[in-house]
Formats: sequence, C-alpha cells, structure tokens
Amino acid sequence: MRTSDLFLALCRFFLPPALIGTVYIYLYPFFQQCSFPEARHTEAACYFSDNAKAAVPGEVAPFRLLAFGDPQLEGDTSLPEHGNTELFPSWRRIWDDVEQHGLSALTTSFNSEGKRLLMEDVPKAFRTYHKKLDLWGNDLYLAHIYRTMSWYTNPTHVAVLGDLLGSQWISDDEFAHRSNRFWKTVFRGGEKVPWVVTDVGASRAEILGADAKWKKTIISVAGNHDIGYAGDIDEHRIERFEETYNRVSWEVRFALNDTTTIDPTSLQPSFPELRLVILNSMNLDTPAAAWDPHQESVDFLNQKLYHELPPADSATILLTHIPLHKEAGICVDEPFIDYLPEHHGGGIKEQNHLSEDVSERILDGMIGPERTRKGVILNGHDHAGCDVYHSKKKELDLDALQDEHAPLWEDKWDAAHYASAQRQVLNRTLTGVREVTVRSMMGDFGGNAGLLSAWWDREAREWKFDYDSCMLGVQHIWWAVHVVDLVVLGLGIAGLLFKGIEGLSRPQPQRTMKLEKKQ
Ligand SMILES: *[C@@H]1O[C@H](CO)[C@@H](O)[C@H](O)[C@H]1NC(C)=O
Ligand SMILES: *[C@@H]1O[C@H](CO)[C@@H](O)[C@H](O)[C@H]1NC(C)=O
Repeated sequence: MRTSDLFLALCRFFLPPALIGTVYIYLYPFFQQCSFPEARHTEAACYFSDNAKAAVPGEVAPFRLLAFGDPQLEGDTSLPEHGNTELFPSWRRIWDDVEQHGLSALTTSFNSEGKRLLMEDVPKAFRTYHKKLDLWGNDLYLAHIYRTMSWYTNPTHVAVLGDLLGSQWISDDEFAHRSNRFWKTVFRGGEKVPWVVTDVGASRAEILGADAKWKKTIISVAGNHDIGYAGDIDEHRIERFEETYNRVSWEVRFALNDTTTIDPTSLQPSFPELRLVILNSMNLDTPAAAWDPHQESVDFLNQKLYHELPPADSATILLTHIPLHKEAGICVDEPFIDYLPEHHGGGIKEQNHLSEDVSERILDGMIGPERTRKGVILNGHDHAGCDVYHSKKKELDLDALQDEHAPLWEDKWDAAHYASAQRQVLNRTLTGVREVTVRSMMGDFGGNAGLLSAWWDREAREWKFDYDSCMLGVQHIWWAVHVVDLVVLGLGIAGLLFKGIEGLSRPQPQRTMKLEKKQ
C-alpha cells in the first residue's frame, strides 16, 4: 500500500464521524428543537369559563430574551505559574553557573539541576500551556454557544446574568484583559448598552421592536465575581464594571406597538408596557463594606418596585444575580449567608440566596400594591439552575390582620418547584411570580442558554411569560469534534501531498505497462 493511499483511507475513515459531529454542533439548536416558547393567547370563548385552558395556535412572541448564566471567564489567577512567570528556572540556573564558572561547571550544574528541570519545571510548563489552551478553547466554546443560539433562535434581547468573570479579586489590568476577551471573543459582535439608555433620569420608554440594535446589545448583570459580595464591594469595582459593561442598576421600558389594544374603561388605545429592571442584588443585604453603594441599591429597588409604578397593565422582568430565598431542597443551593470576621469589617462574605426580608420586599414589589401585577425574575449564581414559583394570597386577609393571635405566616410567600406548582399557578385566590435561575453556560453545566418569551394576551389582558432552555453539551464534545476535524483535514492534505510526490517520482511504470500491452 502506498503512503498516500494509507493517509487517504484514514481520512475517509474519519470523515463520516467528523461530518456528523460538525453538523451536530453547528446546528445543535435544530437537532434539539430549541426555540423561544410560542405566544399562546387565551381563547376568548373559553377565558371566562372555569376550564379556561384551551388556547389558539401559538405565534412568535414579540419579546424574546436570550439569557446566559455565569460564563465566569478565568484568567491568570488559574495558571500554575501565577505570580512567577519564569517557565524554566532550572535552565536559567544552569546557564548562570556556566557563565560564572565556565563550561567545566556544566556537568556538576546539570547533575544538580537536571532532575529539577525534569521533575518540576517541565511538568509545570506543561500544566501552564495546558491551562492556556484550556482557556483559549473555553472562550471559543462559549462564543460558539452565543453565536449559534443568537443566529438560530433570533432573540430580540440578550442578557448575561452576572459572574461574567471568574474573580472579583483581580487587578485592573487583568479585569481589562478578561473583559476584552468577553467582548472580542465570547460575545463577539455584541455591544454595550449605550449610556443614553441607562442614564436617562426618568425611565425611558421605547416601542417594542422599534430598535433592532437590541438584538446585538448585551445586557450585563453584575455578579459577585464581578464586583464582590456586600462585604467587599467598593466604589472602584463598581466603577470599572460600569465603564466596561453597563450600570449595575437601571431600567428600560418597552411599549407594545398595537393600537388594537383598547383599554376597557377609557375605551382608548392602550400600550401595555414591558419593563426590564436590572438590579444589583449583591449589596441589598447587610452588613456591607461600602454604605453608599448599599443605599443606592436599596433606593433603586424602592424607587422601581414601589414608588415609580407604571400602569397596572405593565409587567416587570427583573434581571439580577443572586437568587431569592427559598427553603433547602427546592434548588441545588440552599439558603446560606456567611460573614467576614470582625477585624475585616464583618460584612457579607458569601451568600447563596438573598435574605428572607429582601426576597419578600422584591416579590411584594413585583406584584404591586394591587397584588395582581405580572412579572418574572431571572437570575444566575446557582450554576445548576432552578425554576421556582413563588405564591401568596391575592387578597389581604383583613380579619387576620386585626386578630393579633392569627398566625402571620398566612400572608407569607411560599416557593415550590415550577413543574410541580401548577395547582398554585392556576389557583385564583393566589398570586405569584416565577423565578428562573438560569443554569450556567459553562461547559461543566452543559453549555446552557435560557429562552424567555413575553407576550401580551389580548383576551386575558395581561402579559404572559414562558421559559425554555437549550444545551450544547459539555465542552469535551466541542473539543473532540474540532480535533477530529483537524485530523481529517491533516490526513487529507498529507494524502494529497504524498500522492503528488509519488506521482513525480514514478512516471515510468505506467509507460512500460502500456508498451507491454501492445506487445
Ligand atoms: C407599529 O405598528 C404600525 C402599524 O401596524 C407599523 O406600521 C409600524 O411599523 C410599527 N412600528 C414598529 C416599530 O414596529
Ligand atoms: C388555593 O389556595 C388557597 C390558599 O393556599 C387554598 O386554601 C385553596 O385550597 C387552594 N385552592 C385550590 C383549588 O387548590
């Protein structure tokens, strides 16, 4: 068998798996049937009857948010040589010896340093380059998820729900370096939210769908690994985050472009609004290291969820990082708050959930004073993800309030896993808010992406939401497919090269064969 034939045979052997793998990872949303949940309107005839579940065929929702959890870009702090950039220190020591004592020192030096070179330096250099390759591949893997999902599912908005970077304790240079990878590689083509959107004093309202640029805009939520927990947040970290991404807390409103929506009381066209509230939840709980930023977060929450209330037919999508309080066992992370020692300020060192008080304050604000407003909460932090329904009585029980012996918990929020909470969702004496903790997009969690749809239900006269998710699969699949692709390409090229060389070096035999035939 000629060398070229061997290469080409191997190339043909690996070609089918390479093709299948490549087609799969570049079209995985298609194979997994991923799409934004369809808008389903309640059927007019059925709405007022008790079994009001019949729905007309779905249509494309006007608001489609592609949401990613915790990319957590790592960097120099995860390299083994961190703090000591010299790769082969033993080699330098041998060189120094030779320079000082001449070539005669080479053997003694080699005897003493050679072992360290082999046992310490070489493995360390290997680990360093392995980690660098890993970081490089990880960026491309995350970029693949963003690019493919954004192209295939056609979102109207994109959000990253905090922990964009892997550590809050990095230097400004490293912060800039990782952020550059965030914008230039992972979310390539994405743009920051313009200042004019986040810095308008009163809230800004746009027509939903009027500005196609939102599809390319990355709404970045601050996470504890970006700016720290309450115990170590400072103004400087907030400032560098806001310069590179967007404000840590802001709001934008989108009004429905539909003049056929008539307000039943005024008989005028109404333009129900969808409100996006981005909230820094890292310092709502105390003690906090910096009190001004803490106060700003608390004021923002109060202002947007209690004081500046939009019309009652609007709905709120709250994007934040830390999940709300819920009992252990509902999600993977359970309630947990840890504090720094007194001599380090005693602030919050770490928390899995917001405190119960802050969580109730957020939920009460979401349903509004009428307890009928609609909303949904998206967050990250718990890498495994979670989908929860918080419910509470719709009517205030005035008798219970007057009776001081009546148990107060009657009016408490109760959380249950969304899939098993259909009884609460349909119970008309209850009101509620769905909270989706979007599973991390990191490879170890399957490269997940969240798909949130929102639409105005004309019959029910309220905003409706639905959520779905889509996973590419662990990073090893992405690596394996690209390595096999490279191998096939290499074998193909080698095969053709050898064929060319063989053709040049053996022009004779063909002619002799022809001559033989003639005879
Ligand atoms: C709003 O609706 C009107 C009428 O249907 C349409 O002409 C216009 O293009 C829409 N505007 C946007 C921004 O979608
Ligand atoms: C609705 O919720 C209330 C309060 O939790 C409960 O008492 C009632 O039994 C529920 N109704 C149904 C039909 O589940």
